[in-house]
Amino acid sequence: MKILVTGGGGFIGSQLVEILLAEGHTPIILDNFSNGREENVPSGVKIYRENLLSDKVEKIFEKEKPDIVMHLAAQVSVAKSLENPAEDAAVNVLGTVKLLEYSTRYGVKKFIFSSSSAVYGYTNEVINEESPTSPISFYGTSKLVSETYIKLFNKLYKLPYTILRYANVYGPRQRSDGEGGVISIFIEQLLNIETPIIFGDGNQTRDFVYVEDVARANLLAIANADNQVINIGTNTQTTVNLLYTLLSNQLHSSQKPNYEAKREGDILHSHLSNSKALHYLKWEPQYDLNSGLENTVEYFKRKMENDE
Ligand SMILES: NC(=O)c1ccc[n+]([C@@H]2O[C@H](COP(=O)([O-])OP(=O)(O)OC[C@H]3O[C@@H](n4cnc5c(N)ncnc54)[C@H](O)[C@@H]3O)[C@@H](O)[C@H]2O)c1
Repeated sequence: MKILVTGGGGFIGSQLVEILLAEGHTPIILDNFSNGREENVPSGVKIYRENLLSDKVEKIFEKEKPDIVMHLAAQVSVAKSLENPAEDAAVNVLGTVKLLEYSTRYGVKKFIFSSSSAVYGYTNEVINEESPTSPISFYGTSKLVSETYIKLFNKLYKLPYTILRYANVYGPRQRSDGEGGVISIFIEQLLNIETPIIFGDGNQTRDFVYVEDVARANLLAIANADNQVINIGTNTQTTVNLLYTLLSNQLHSSQKPNYEAKREGDILHSHLSNSKALHYLKWEPQYDLNSGLENTVEYFKRKMENDE
């Protein structure tokens, strides 16, 4: 199938493109490379270097007539969303609405959306898809509003969708300045013998899901889980302190972190139930934290050697 992957030059999108190619699909990429990198894209894949908000994007739909849209392009930083909510909303909300319009106009068969656990906000409970949504950042709000548009486009124009709400994604190619970049930040700092900073007391928890597992969830959503909202997480809580210890052990580092005040917009606990993903997508994470971290550490070591 011909699949338009927005954000296909990014951390998750580029690894999704690799999986789609391996499965015999024809991915095409729409990315302005504001955060992604062209060298992430496998050779031979068609790239449209455009801003989501450009009027030229409609021409891409007209010309390519994609079967599926996988929408990953976004303003991904919680901190930037708080600094500039209008910019966040323009890219994340308006960008999504434009793609939905073109998808209905040009016969797209399914819209698969990368949402986030940031739509939920504060809770100490295990989060399932029926849990209340109450974002504490504009980033979370822009994802939630986009979800509402997607559901209404389905209701009014019968555009099938799957909404995937990712936990904290990590793995090779993650930049150290995006949402959920704590693992890449710690690894780079420990490799460079710098002192990592932990915001808060480090007892906050995250649900870390490996990038390849997230890409596979998108692949499975092509033929499954129509009109469903699905968490993509590991159903496991890890404190930031434990994460730090695991990484220090893997890197044989005795460096101690500095603790600083907790940041605005950061949630305290995140623990996503994944039973709906198992039911509708037959998806389960294939990487536990240790094996995912091993691959990630190897990637950053190789990257550092190549950069030298
Ligand atoms: N990484 C995570 O932990 C995480 C968690 C939850 C949800 N998500 C979502 O997954 C998706 C992919 O995130 P990622 O971590 O790979 O981030 P990323 O920044 O690596 O990828 C996003 C891509 O979108 C592109 N982009 C940004 N603005 C654009 C615009 N206006 N026009 C065209 N392209 C634009 C960037 O250049 C980049 O290649 C995003 O929608 C993000 O919100 C990520």
